[in-house]
Amino acid sequence: MMPTNEKTYTTAARFMLHGGDYNPDQWLDHPEILAEDLKLMKLSGSNTFSLGIFAWSTLEPEEGQFHFEWLDSIIDNIASIGGRVILATPSGARPAWMSQKYPEVLRVNESRVQQLHGGRHNHCFTSPVYREKTAKMNRMLAERYGKHPALLMWHISNEYGGECHCDKCQDAFRSWLKVKYADDLKALNDSWWGPFWSHTFSDWSQIESPSPIGENMVHGLNLDWKRFVTDQTISFFENEVTAIKELTPDIPITTNFMADTHDLIPFQSLDYSKFAKHLDVISWDAYPAWHNDWETTANLAMKVGFINDLYRSLKQQPFLLMESTPSAVNWHKVNKAKRPGMHLLSSMQMVAHGSDSILYFQWRKSRGSSEKFHGAVVDHDNSAENRVFKEVSKVGETLGKLSQVVGTNRPADVAILYDWENNWALDHAQGYGSETKSYPQTLQEHYRTFWEQDIPVDVITKEQDFSGYKLLVVPMLYLASERTIARLKRFVADGGTVVMTYISGIVNEYDLTYLGGWHQDLRDVFGINPVETDTLYPSDRNAVHYGGRSYELTDYATVLENHSADVVGTYEQDFYAETPAVTSNRYEKGEAYYIGGRLEEQFHRDFYQGLIRELSLQPVFPIAHGPGVSVQVRQDAAQDYAFVMNFTEQEQTVSIDAKAKDLVTGEDLSGELALAKYEVRILAVNG
Ligand code: GAL
Repeated sequence: MMPTNEKTYTTAARFMLHGGDYNPDQWLDHPEILAEDLKLMKLSGSNTFSLGIFAWSTLEPEEGQFHFEWLDSIIDNIASIGGRVILATPSGARPAWMSQKYPEVLRVNESRVQQLHGGRHNHCFTSPVYREKTAKMNRMLAERYGKHPALLMWHISNEYGGECHCDKCQDAFRSWLKVKYADDLKALNDSWWGPFWSHTFSDWSQIESPSPIGENMVHGLNLDWKRFVTDQTISFFENEVTAIKELTPDIPITTNFMADTHDLIPFQSLDYSKFAKHLDVISWDAYPAWHNDWETTANLAMKVGFINDLYRSLKQQPFLLMESTPSAVNWHKVNKAKRPGMHLLSSMQMVAHGSDSILYFQWRKSRGSSEKFHGAVVDHDNSAENRVFKEVSKVGETLGKLSQVVGTNRPADVAILYDWENNWALDHAQGYGSETKSYPQTLQEHYRTFWEQDIPVDVITKEQDFSGYKLLVVPMLYLASERTIARLKRFVADGGTVVMTYISGIVNEYDLTYLGGWHQDLRDVFGINPVETDTLYPSDRNAVHYGGRSYELTDYATVLENHSADVVGTYEQDFYAETPAVTSNRYEKGEAYYIGGRLEEQFHRDFYQGLIRELSLQPVFPIAHGPGVSVQVRQDAAQDYAFVMNFTEQEQTVSIDAKAKDLVTGEDLSGELALAKYEVRILAVNG
């Protein structure tokens, strides 16, 4: 894809945002702390604060009694030091009076148990009362602060997620289904394979959301429910923003997305590809477990790269890091502090992949309750002298020198396809290995080689434009609709190269298998017919012979019938020994590769190395380096901004084959450069 020269969404700010969730509502009885905060904000180089995220009980302590005075003065004070505000709507948590008076706002879980008041992120997305209350609150916020010069952006709610199974949600689900199936119950029964276990419905009212104490094995139902949950969440969101859009049409709107943290894979419960269309800016909360005991720093950095490239690609524009921790979190199994240097390095990695901000949860550490030990910019010692505060200030200082990077994008010739619906369907599929499907992790494995070689990748979704890419990697696309198959076929016919793997093209968008073997279009494009998938026990091993070497195979092997493809790899063992495992097929102007089995890391390196050569895929700005160093580039028309990052515990030497300027120190650089453990250098090079 070509670089975007426009300053994309960033009409609101021409500076890197630094700061984060600030919760002064916890400190209103401590004016001395609030006064101190203003000094510390400046000292830490913070310029942007997300306010009011969980402030409903302070904004409306009793029904109809509104208190905005405290927020007025906080916003004015922030403005007085030149700061900006990302103002939140408070629907992520609600006051007790509301749950008590209107129990319909309480969520009902999948076992049909209504939850008690407490916690957060647990409201019903359908409840008319909750919708009315949030709409009213949000209108008041927009009326009061919409014209405040400090207002930079809207932060709608917080980390939308979860589902409610109350009666109102059941009704809404049935109405959603009626629309989807055009009031035709037979069409629904056909799509859900109704006669299986006598699951044909004779009336819409019989349909219930999936439940562990009821129906949970009708895959079409499961999938439609997931889709409904996304749509209902978006509908709730749209209700939240109605007045905001009307009163503040020029203020960008975001909501903070999440990731599953252990493996740093995309958040599973909502289809963000749909949600993204409703936002002006993508923002997300990143909490990688740096220095963990199950992987190398570089491996984790690779995963951070992957997910950033997905969230950036959702809108093909820079995004915001809405939350991160300057030190430890409080909810990992072990909450390890970031080692010296890691905070700057990990923050710059976010910027390198397209973030225009480094924002934290939270700016001042709480004194009580569950997050009192979660890392923050300001600790209980209230000091600007501790290590964490100093590291944060260094990030602030560095960001201050990166204004020209704001709004710049990352061009890519390679795309990897991620699909939320596919992930759901694969998860539900009772087949293959129940613990080894690992769809998002498989994508990370395919991403790895490009990351190691500094070749930019977009991680795109199935509705996005494929046409600008030279290479499209489509691992484990189990659910592939006729439309997606047709789009892949067009991509290859027009000259693109596609790589597909085992367990792809099995079911359509209703989770019904294709009949008569593999889809004819896929057979034509790939020149093969996958006829059987073998699932291996964890202790089983097979191997594939490819390019004169043997590569270990685990988990999955697909037996392929060859029609017109070149066989470039063969299985080594078992009843399919010596049959095709990796194939390549010329189709019209393009090339289609199929990888039949799950192969070790080195296979991907060697396989993709071949394609990198063939397709002349290159780093934007070549810097020679050893393993564990990553160079990621953002670009505008005039310049490349190269982030050179050492994700190892040793010093690394890199070699720069151009004249570059260090954006932070102002130094001119070329030739060899030594990077200390966790060091990052940010270089500007004329493009
Ligand atoms: C996020 C949440 C924040 C805070 C943070 C702690 O998921 O949005 O409010 O709880 O986690 O890491």
